[in-house]
Amino acid sequence: MSDLTAAWTAFDQAAATAAKTRIVDMFAAEPDRLQRMTVEAAGVTLDLSKQAWTAAALDAALALAKAADVEGARARMLAGEAINGSEGRAVLHVALRAAADADYRSGGKPVMAEVEAVRARMSAFAGQVRSGAVKGATGRPFKAILHIGIGGSDLGPRLLWDALRPLKPDIDLRFVANVDGAEFALVTADMDPAETLVVVVSKTFTTQETMANAQAARAWLAASLGEEAAKGHLAAVSTALDKTAAFGIVDERVFGFWDWVGGRYSLWSSVSLSVPIALGWEVFDRFLAGGRAMDEHFATAPLERNAPVLLGLAQVFNRNGLGRGARSVVPYAHRLNRLSNFLQQLEMESNGKSVGSDGKPVAHGTAPVVFGGEGTTVQHAYFQAMHQGTDVTPVEFIALARSDDGPADMHQKLLANVLAQAEALMVGRSEADVRAELEAKGTPAAEIATLAPQRAFAGNRPSTLILLDRLTPETFGALIALYEHKTFVEGVVWGINSFDQWGVELGKAMAGRILPELEGKAVNPHDPSTTALIGRLKG
Ligand code: F6P
Repeated sequence: MSDLTAAWTAFDQAAATAAKTRIVDMFAAEPDRLQRMTVEAAGVTLDLSKQAWTAAALDAALALAKAADVEGARARMLAGEAINGSEGRAVLHVALRAAADADYRSGGKPVMAEVEAVRARMSAFAGQVRSGAVKGATGRPFKAILHIGIGGSDLGPRLLWDALRPLKPDIDLRFVANVDGAEFALVTADMDPAETLVVVVSKTFTTQETMANAQAARAWLAASLGEEAAKGHLAAVSTALDKTAAFGIVDERVFGFWDWVGGRYSLWSSVSLSVPIALGWEVFDRFLAGGRAMDEHFATAPLERNAPVLLGLAQVFNRNGLGRGARSVVPYAHRLNRLSNFLQQLEMESNGKSVGSDGKPVAHGTAPVVFGGEGTTVQHAYFQAMHQGTDVTPVEFIALARSDDGPADMHQKLLANVLAQAEALMVGRSEADVRAELEAKGTPAAEIATLAPQRAFAGNRPSTLILLDRLTPETFGALIALYEHKTFVEGVVWGINSFDQWGVELGKAMAGRILPELEGKAVNPHDPSTTALIGRLKG
């Protein structure tokens, strides 16, 4: 038996044993549980003590991480080896937030000079737009940005903007992602083309949705400013400089990045250009510093005190040790209400694989379904099922110790709710307790017999709490880097390549085949259902 197989066997056994103990009872049995399962890094505190693992199960999970060589994989990633094997690419998003004198290399070639050069161009352009030195074609300063992109070219910058935007921005920032004209029409309805800078963001510059929106935006600008003047309102972010030129965007307005940055890891790059324009470079730079602080922690902390490692192992424990197929992410912070959308791509596009890096079927379940929404609103929606549903879904709560927005008393209420939900999920409420309460109210015995079981809570439902001191550019950067590295750790344990996404290609190719059929220009063979629908929908 290989070391890895033995580690999986020991892990499974430890999980089966842990499953026999209620989480709440683990605290009494393990006096150092809270201390061992709480870790602080870069302004982010992680409390994993309400997870369903015993100290012994955590040890088994750490042994599994060792056997899977998480430390070696981490070293290979940071050394710029081509760990994205199916595409032959290094994975170096850490370089995007590194200090200028860091020595990251892709395939041996230093990358920081190029990273710095693009940062300098971004910072200069952001400053020029903000100061009005760069203006629109009619001589008016830019007052709004229309950011066009999808997936990794949208979700990160959108979340970043929500997290850090001022209450009254000098420059407004709007986003368009979908190839649904309704979104474009709604977002641009009250925008003035004369004051709008359009930033088209696409790593490949071929993505159908983004190119359709870019063409719509160019036409929208041209309709009011004229074709030539419209060009002065366009900027692009891409690795495909030939394609941005063909689209009519001048090179000085094109900001590059590199093939060693995956789309879902790209919000540290020029992909977020719109954000420093709207917020100022200094804020973006602080965000990078927060990511860098988490990188330093991830690279140096021992596995048992390493926040991304522990968060990743908690997911592996739930997914593989206990068979939980989903995880719910619930920020009690309105500014992070899109976090679960961002994590859906980060985690499910990275780790939603059933074949390992070795080309063989994986032996263990991989990325669970990630879903969520903001607390408290989700308490009044799907949380019924989290407390009493037949499936146990681990919850990840994110909270801010202090808020800089709104009345302080509202923040205390928000905190009371997040703590209450985590405690209620774990402790539950016994049927005997409910029964006693109903008896005290004089409820008839026959009614109690049917009511009490329905009003009882089994409890023993696991959760994690991620606490930020406050939401600053630094802590937000650290939070996102925490999730990136956690996703990496899981991928290593599962033996998959977290950095390709072949699974999104088939649908794209089929849409390209169906479009001419809907336009009446072609007929292709399909399954009976699709053929019937094309017949019904074609123009
Ligand atoms: O379809 C998936 C995907 O390739 C993502 O990985 C990526 O973030 C998104 O599309 C957008 O790609 P691009 O930046 O090349 O337009």
